[in-house]
Amino acid sequence: MTATHLLSVADLGTDGIEEVLRVTDSFVEVSARAIPKVPALRGRTVVSLFFEDSTRTRLSFEAAARRLSADVMNFAVSSSSVNKGECLRDTVETIDAMGVDALVVRHGSSGVPWQVAGWVGASVINAGDGAHEHPTQALLDCFTIRQRRGSLEGLRIAIVGDVKHSRVARSGVLAFTALGAEVTLVAPPTLLPPSLEGWPVTVSHELDPVLVKADVAYMLRMQSERMTGSLLPSRREYTAGFGLTRRRAALLPDGALVMHPGPLNRGVEIAAEVAGMPGSVITSQVANGVAVRMAVLYLLLGGAG
Ligand code: NCD
Repeated sequence: MTATHLLSVADLGTDGIEEVLRVTDSFVEVSARAIPKVPALRGRTVVSLFFEDSTRTRLSFEAAARRLSADVMNFAVSSSSVNKGECLRDTVETIDAMGVDALVVRHGSSGVPWQVAGWVGASVINAGDGAHEHPTQALLDCFTIRQRRGSLEGLRIAIVGDVKHSRVARSGVLAFTALGAEVTLVAPPTLLPPSLEGWPVTVSHELDPVLVKADVAYMLRMQSERMTGSLLPSRREYTAGFGLTRRRAALLPDGALVMHPGPLNRGVEIAAEVAGMPGSVITSQVANGVAVRMAVLYLLLGGAG
């Protein structure tokens, strides 16, 4: 990887994605050891700067940095000087002045990681910016699909649900299509972005006909915290039309995968028993997330040597 930052999947291109996946293979092996730790980033400091809630992404980055022997600082917005009115730029420059090597940034507004990258000397990794991008999620999803299916080339991937508010969908479309998959977005019109011009996807407002031909059913969380108006008549109607119920999951071809970035709204976009069925790789996504983030940190911080 020649870049200093990872802000968008587009920064990587197909070759860059392949490189991350290759390096991830060796970190999966490290993660399986009794002591899952290598000295690659000893003496380096990684800061997680999360202005938005997170369980798996934040912990996953911190675990990844520790397994590479980096020092980890965790910035808690709720107990920081942000509450005294300190602005984003001052906050970020203060942290940068302490001599950090990487900033892992999550923010509710699109574009913030790009702004931060312009202010600091450290490498910046986008851990989710508003409804825009979430590149490491797309990478771990590609890795998980490849692990189960060998390759993404020619696979049919259905991304289902609240695409409008989903950074996971945006980064996923870029990465899946870069690796040769065909993506269909399945959602009611109100949960699609106003324009899909330039998106390399097909769109369907009906789930069943897409599921019968899908290699992957990628279910998205209903992101109520980003919804301003009322975009849905009711949750029950949403589940009836677009939820992966047990009946619908039975339509999937043999060997198809069920994926979800988490956190799950069980019973809304996915039935509890479907999340636990054999084709579901939701737990593998989380496990692979650590190894993928190790690869990203390693490649960005030049751990080579
Ligand atoms: C997602 C996120 O926060 O973008 N979760 C995650 O990072 N695994 C998706 C979501 O919140 O629905």
